[in-house]
Amino acid sequence: MAKYPVVVYGASGFTGMLIMDWLIDQQIPFTAVARNAGRVKEMMAQRVVRLESATYEIVQAEHSVSALTQAFKGAKVVCNTVGPFINFGLVAVEAALKAGCHYLDTSGEQAYVRSVRDGFGEIYRQAGLLVSPSLAYMYTFSEIAAEIALETPGIDVLETATLCRGPRFAASGVTVGSTASIFELYRQEACYLWEKQLVPHAYGTTVNIVDQNFVQPVFSLPWGGTSLPVYFQHDARVRSCTSYVGFYDNDVMKLVHSLGAKWDAEYKKLPKEQQNVVIKSMVDSTTPSMPPRERTTAQRTVDFAVGRGQLAAVRATVHGVTSYISTGAVQCAGAMKLLDNDTAKVGFASGSKAFGHRYLLGFLEQRGLARASVQQL
Ligand SMILES: NC(=O)c1ccc[n+]([C@@H]2O[C@H](COP(=O)([O-])OP(=O)(O)OC[C@H]3O[C@@H](n4cnc5c(N)ncnc54)[C@H](OP(=O)(O)O)[C@@H]3O)[C@@H](O)[C@H]2O)c1
Repeated sequence: MAKYPVVVYGASGFTGMLIMDWLIDQQIPFTAVARNAGRVKEMMAQRVVRLESATYEIVQAEHSVSALTQAFKGAKVVCNTVGPFINFGLVAVEAALKAGCHYLDTSGEQAYVRSVRDGFGEIYRQAGLLVSPSLAYMYTFSEIAAEIALETPGIDVLETATLCRGPRFAASGVTVGSTASIFELYRQEACYLWEKQLVPHAYGTTVNIVDQNFVQPVFSLPWGGTSLPVYFQHDARVRSCTSYVGFYDNDVMKLVHSLGAKWDAEYKKLPKEQQNVVIKSMVDSTTPSMPPRERTTAQRTVDFAVGRGQLAAVRATVHGVTSYISTGAVQCAGAMKLLDNDTAKVGFASGSKAFGHRYLLGFLEQRGLARASVQQL
């Protein structure tokens, strides 16, 4: 049983602890759930800011529907950070539903977001609960940019880009869980939205994104397709949406792309267990440990959406810093709204649709984490 209204699941992880930072900042009591309570206690003592002023408890639970249902019961909102979500997410989604909780997570993996929508959207709606995967830097920032573009009447086609500063994996701030999630994308179909239909990207798609924030084009990939084509598929305003992700460090992104080609040539046909071994060795060799806390001088992001209509054209940009810290902030912002019973949607809905993109942007702006601008073209 959870004693407090917000559960942070994955409480020993980098992102889970950043959600706690923001909950503590808002004086929201929370239940920290993970598979190893000893590790949670040790990690929280090292990493969580102002822990001495927090009201919280630690609950250990194995990763199964029954154990997590038991751990979540009594709470109102579950913030899940246990990824790769394609492997672990649905167990927590089912447990949150059975426990009668709203569900938020920090995914972004398109195939998983689709399976949440198709498997749980309607049941959550009937229960009067929100299920909102991908409330995280990726892809809340690009969705905010897209929503700002959609404020211009007539916009019905979106192209979005999520561009982040050079993640040389653990050395510059990418976590173990994120690296595992990145390599999992090799196994997933990546789709864009074209005339209301999800269409797979051609194998090996790359784009060189030209943006006025950069001198050089940014080498970018579909990155699993992102969550935006799924969230906009049933949005009456939008016909088509294509999204890409790039690192300012083109060499790192080219390395990820070449590993994808290697995956296709050598590992794609292997049984899942053998693929798991390959992915684990990729994660261990690139990201052996938890990175240090982010710094605004190092971790910077640019997300933009180009919106077009028959004659209308607009470009909306969100500049940001510290994407993991920002992920903690948007999770907290969502939890606050749900504690207040203030959600525009139940069932499957993005953070922007449930809480309002202007609310999420304002929350980030007020904390120095994002700045938006818009240009009519
Ligand atoms: N979309 C975005 O912008 C964004 C931003 C941040 C994070 N994320 C995603 O969020 C996820 C977590 O990231 P992170 O930075 O917090 O990674 P992390 O530091 O590696 O933490 C992962 C957490 O998941 C737990 N975990 C891993 N495997 C588990 C399993 N089999 N059963 C139960 N718990 C398990 C870990 O527990 P132990 O400590 O016991 O291993 C830990 O608490 C990743 O999928 C990442 O891609 C996305």
